Amino acid sequence: MTQMSPSDVPSMGRRQFMNLLTFGTATGVALGALYPVANFFMPLRAGGGSGGTTAKDELGNSVTSEGWLSTHPAGDRSLVQGLKGDPTYLIVDGDGAIGNFGINAICTHLGCVVPWNSGANKYICPCHGSQYDANGKVVRGPAPLSLPLTHVDIKDDSVFVSQWTETDFRTGDKPWWV
Ligand code: FES
Repeated sequence: MTQMSPSDVPSMGRRQFMNLLTFGTATGVALGALYPVANFFMPLRAGGGSGGTTAKDELGNSVTSEGWLSTHPAGDRSLVQGLKGDPTYLIVDGDGAIGNFGINAICTHLGCVVPWNSGANKYICPCHGSQYDANGKVVRGPAPLSLPLTHVDIKDDSVFVSQWTETDFRTGDKPWWV
């Protein structure tokens, strides 16, 4: 005799559905597709520092500078949830402070999350081999574009991310993601 009851089936479905929402596979794609449309109809926001959010860790807790630096040494590049929940690298600079820009980790080829490879000093996409330098500038295709930048500011120990609308300092071009 099995101990499973018919009610186990819907609860499994609900859990999987929640996982999908939490990790944003479908939601992220849908929001990503809608974002340019919504942005088009929204009034322009003043300045590059608006429209930001507090960075969140993998559990959804707000990231604090002190907490982050207690576990992430100089040179570290680790992911937080940034703008729109996108996986975003915080960079701990050589002075042991959180750098003032973050790097969106979504590959500009087909959207895989790109891991940091400290040995190669690059971000290397496992899906089709695209490579980005330490600042997220594309150095090998098939990815057509560099990884988007975000501003990172520390406010009352909270780590705050906001959209980068200024010139992309890696290319000298207008940011393609705005
Ligand atoms: Fe990154 Fe294709 S998704 S190289």
